[in-house]
Amino acid sequence: MGLLSPALRSPAPAPDMTALSNFAALRGQLRVSLGPACNIWCWFCHNEGDVPPGATKDDGSLRPRERLLCADHYVQAIGGLIATGLRRVYFTGGEPLASRLARPVLEGVARYAAPDVTFALITNGILVPRALPWLQRIPLDKIKVSLHYFSDATFRMIARANRPISDVLAGIESAREAFERVEINTLLQRQNRHEVPAILDYALTRRLPVQFIELVSTDFNTPASDAAVPADDLVALLRTMCESERVEVAGVGQGRRVFTVDGVEVEVIHRELGRHHVGQCGTCPLKPQCVEGFWALRLDHAGGLMPCLLREDLRLHLAPILTARGGLGAAHAVARHVAAFTEGTL
Ligand SMILES: C[S@@+](CC[C@H](N)C(=O)[O-])C[C@H]1O[C@@H](n2cnc3c(N)ncnc32)[C@H](O)[C@@H]1O
Repeated sequence: MGLLSPALRSPAPAPDMTALSNFAALRGQLRVSLGPACNIWCWFCHNEGDVPPGATKDDGSLRPRERLLCADHYVQAIGGLIATGLRRVYFTGGEPLASRLARPVLEGVARYAAPDVTFALITNGILVPRALPWLQRIPLDKIKVSLHYFSDATFRMIARANRPISDVLAGIESAREAFERVEINTLLQRQNRHEVPAILDYALTRRLPVQFIELVSTDFNTPASDAAVPADDLVALLRTMCESERVEVAGVGQGRRVFTVDGVEVEVIHRELGRHHVGQCGTCPLKPQCVEGFWALRLDHAGGLMPCLLREDLRLHLAPILTARGGLGAAHAVARHVAAFTEGTL
């Protein structure tokens, strides 16, 4: 205890939970990065706010943050946030299945499974077959596989992957064997424009819900951001194929168009439908570049929690709080942070 700052030694006042509860009620999600390391190097990767694998590959002096959390820290933090009302937990990275913490963290949080709590894994799919013996026992509500490519050539161009696209497709098939809900997610970009119909056809044939997303620009991918492709052409194509289209703008997150094609949901995040902003966004100098709005709390392996991907300066340092006060104490600190972010006083 001697090493703790005076603020962490005294008891914390009870927080006002309103902002965190509202965020949860609006389907706000907790995105948990198990670490920045990945087995592919997508050019666009925002790496949930850390230095992307591609940047580290190109320039060894660019290092991702150092790991401060162990598996038990993650489990405590996630448990605390679920206890204070968050209901949607997404595991991501880097490639979450490339992290040695994947198994202990996912097995550890299984104890928080409840009918109104959902756990989802976002993965590039490659390591799913290898992980399946333990992964299939985790109460995951969905596996979301990134499929931004549909040929070896495009896979190489987008992800600099030195492996065949069949590795990703095998991962999707493996996930389908073990989990009821497997979804595809595809980032629209110039490099895959010619393969979008094939990806769509692949998903529809297998009755896999698919989400098409637009590029979020960050410092790392800005030089190539002219590769961003708006969703308009895809929306026009889907209108020729669908039984129905609805617009979802409720809750946090970006507005999306949801098409039903042969009974399968195809979701398109569409910039023109807007996003959710709160008080802090009012004076944010980066608001003109903001694509996502306030929709996720991102917990990273260095123990930081970011309410906004573009504002590193608004990252909350949870690691010392977790050590001193455990999961519930950390969740209370998050509640205070979210309240201040919502009011615009951070
Ligand atoms: C960072 S990846 C990590 C998980 C896993 N390795 C994967 O490939 O799905 C998590 C999600 O972020 C999305 N993503 C990454 N960079 C993005 C960007 N610049 N704009 C929009 N989405 C992005 C990916 O498509 C993926 O759905």
